[in-house]
Amino acid sequence: MATPEQRREELLAVFEQARGCTRCPQLASTRTKVVFGAGDADADLMFVGEAPGANEDRQGLPFVGQAGKLLDQLLGEIGLSRREVFVANTLKCQPPGNRDPHPVEIENCQDYLMRQLELIEPRVVCTLGNFATKLLRGDPAGITRVHGTDEVRVIGRRAVRLYPLFHPAAALYTPRMLDVLREDFRRIPELLALPVPPQPAFADEPMVPIESETAPRAVPAPESSAGAEPDREPTSELRSEPQAEADPQPPNPEQLGLF
Ligand code: URA
Repeated sequence: MATPEQRREELLAVFEQARGCTRCPQLASTRTKVVFGAGDADADLMFVGEAPGANEDRQGLPFVGQAGKLLDQLLGEIGLSRREVFVANTLKCQPPGNRDPHPVEIENCQDYLMRQLELIEPRVVCTLGNFATKLLRGDPAGITRVHGTDEVRVIGRRAVRLYPLFHPAAALYTPRMLDVLREDFRRIPELLALPVPPQPAFADEPMVPIESETAPRAVPAPESSAGAEPDREPTSELRSEPQAEADPQPPNPEQLGLF
């Protein structure tokens, strides 16, 4: 079994690999930085959002805009800080114009998320919004139906307690959604106190490295969004938050705030 130090080293190696990723030719050509994720590399609690917005793309860190401030506030209300959790996204690159992630992009990027889940070994994974929830539940049920309902799921090689939540960006301007998000957040400490779910027998088998790409993957046409669920949150629109005037932080050569 890998030690926390070995898992952290491996996480850095996966980050390096993601930094050079060209699996999605469009995203690779339009991104400023790959936003791999940040936080405690050994966190019990992990959040998975949708995709970086403009501020995240510039800084290389997840949830640094208004939605991130709300996330920090909600964490503070349950006695936690960003340093104690790990925050990542379904896509590691900003979709141009903050459009929705395309299905093929989610598929291309999911190896990175799976490796993050394997290496960080969180007990509780909160999906933020529809994209992360549908991906990690492996089910098309929308967030309005499943938010606030925890369940144990085997994701990749590990069993985790999955807890879908509304996306903070969707709650920013909808007070009723914010109330629900806040209420769902209040259950997180209780979920963290539950025993670690029993792990599948294969959880300790050696991990398969992510395939290095020498050429972009074939990109099928994106699926039409006609007939999409009516409960879709307007998170992509809300990812286009006003950009900070100047980057308040010095450039972070690692682009990975690991604690
Ligand atoms: N919205 C997301 O889903 N992720 C971010 O990192 C920022 C906004």
